[in-house]
Amino acid sequence: MQQGQPMIVMSEDSQRVKDKDAQDYNISAARAVAEAVRSTLGPKGMDKMLVDSMGSVTITNDGVTILQEMDIDNPTAEMIIEVAETQEDEAGDGTTTAVAIAGELLKNAEDLLEQEIHPTAIIKGFHMASEQARDEIDDIAQDVDTEDEELLRSVAETSMTGKGTEVNKEHLSQLIIDAVKQVTVEDDEGNNVVDLEFLNIETQTGRSAGESDLLEGGIVDKDPVHDNMPTEATDADILLLNEAIEVEETDVDTEVSVTDPDQLQKFLDREEKQLREKVDTIADLGADVVFCQKGIDDLAQHYLAKEGILAVRRAKKSDLEFLSEVVGASVVSDLESATEDDLGFGDVTRDDADELFYVEGEDAHGVTLLLRGSTEHVVDELERGVNDALDVVAQTVSDGRVLAGGGAIEVELASRLRDYADSVSGREQLAVEAFADSLELVPRVLAENAGLDSIDTLVDLRSAHDDGDVEAGLNVFTGDVEDTFEAGVVEPAHAKEQAVTSAAEAANLVLKIDDIISAGDLSTDKGGDEEGGAPGAPGGAGGMGGMGGGMGGMM
Ligand SMILES: Nc1ncnc2c1ncn2[C@@H]1O[C@H](COP(=O)(O)OP(=O)(O)OP(=O)(O)O)[C@@H](O)[C@H]1O
Ligand SMILES: [Mg+2]
Repeated sequence: MQQGQPMIVMSEDSQRVKDKDAQDYNISAARAVAEAVRSTLGPKGMDKMLVDSMGSVTITNDGVTILQEMDIDNPTAEMIIEVAETQEDEAGDGTTTAVAIAGELLKNAEDLLEQEIHPTAIIKGFHMASEQARDEIDDIAQDVDTEDEELLRSVAETSMTGKGTEVNKEHLSQLIIDAVKQVTVEDDEGNNVVDLEFLNIETQTGRSAGESDLLEGGIVDKDPVHDNMPTEATDADILLLNEAIEVEETDVDTEVSVTDPDQLQKFLDREEKQLREKVDTIADLGADVVFCQKGIDDLAQHYLAKEGILAVRRAKKSDLEFLSEVVGASVVSDLESATEDDLGFGDVTRDDADELFYVEGEDAHGVTLLLRGSTEHVVDELERGVNDALDVVAQTVSDGRVLAGGGAIEVELASRLRDYADSVSGREQLAVEAFADSLELVPRVLAENAGLDSIDTLVDLRSAHDDGDVEAGLNVFTGDVEDTFEAGVVEPAHAKEQAVTSAAEAANLVLKIDDIISAGDLSTDKGGDEEGGAPGAPGGAGGMGGMGGGMGGMM
């Protein structure tokens, strides 16, 4: 009797999109994300201005920053953003490339799906191609001398072009190379290990980026708490304190009522004694300088000044942690139990113009890159660019493998993958070819963003590579195809491997889905409900269109 009647197992609010519709939904979401960042790729890429719900503005060219700042509320789009985040964590640069390739893979997969090729064949083909691409990258990459400053400079500058760092790239790349050198150590097997933990970036607004500087040691952007304190201390014992030098307060609210002046005096004396004791403890430890993360009571300030101790209050937690590396101190959170061993040793000097303390250590190392820029927005974008460049220089120093940029590596990979495809049987072959085509998106977009004809460029690039010119890439400034490695457009191999791998994995993750079951409304615009809200494709596709359109408007 029940036959023919569907059994309802899901709640009324839930939505379900299946098969082809699910794939369409996912692919268009992922592509919308990729298209949102494409226009920023390369030296001629443009920036985006992002305004958050609180009205604060970010201007950036950095792929991962754009995607993180965009208020995206779509599960598939978020999977693509993860690609950018992984790329940022693993390689530091190449986030736009990774996302753009992921989007292109899905676009080409869509064509294959339309030809009735089963998703599992596409997934398998993409996986094979991505493995092969890794091997090929390893084969194409050049092993370089990690001491070669000229080369490291090219790597840093390639990563910085097109970003806020561009105008001062010579100066900044030198600072970056010096900074990385300072924090590079050799491990037991003689490999270079770059420990970026020992490198701190500080920003200052007000001067030009060309006046950025590398300092051995750390910076504390604070004033001494008391005018009568020394402002400098050489060969100083330094205490890093994470406890307030104030009268201890009770946990519960208390009220003390005093009836005669003597009682009040006693009470005040007791407070004074407590502060005196704290300062005495610090003096007995032998500290010449105290950087305190919490507050320092007025009276304690006075006592400290009398002891000739330089004290700073409300120092940043991150600064204290970094200083602990620089001067070899531990951060003390209980003064009572502190010992001399907790103190660090170094020089503290004052920059009066910038109102900063410079803290240099003796044995322990640690350097600070002081980035300057005219305004907050300039400095923020500068910092992002410098961070990318630091990561790629660090990778080059530790890994030693580099590639020619400007699309050279992508075209070479595509050509090798097409050869490889011939050896692949079945429908996977088509997927491997589609993978090769997807990689060529990079030179196409580089050309597009530079106002060049992308088809002509690609044709020229392909023919150069067919002639065996492995390093032929696009010079976006002249529009010519040339040996980009020679021209100084150089990228670390590791970042490219990571970009290709994570793009392929994300595309495969999306392709494997044939059913989306959502507990709530899938569409991002709330109006979707009123249009019926029936589970099924139209609702889902409608919601998606809303997002695609919204982001399309960004470009
Ligand atoms: N002078 C140049 N000529 C041609 N191409 C260049 C030049 N400098 C850099 N490129 C290319 O630009 C691309 C990198 O662009 P961009 O830095 O905008 O994106 P990304 O590194 O993928 O992402 P992001 O920096 O946002 O994390 C690389 O393919 C690189 O080879
Ligand atoms: Mg980059």
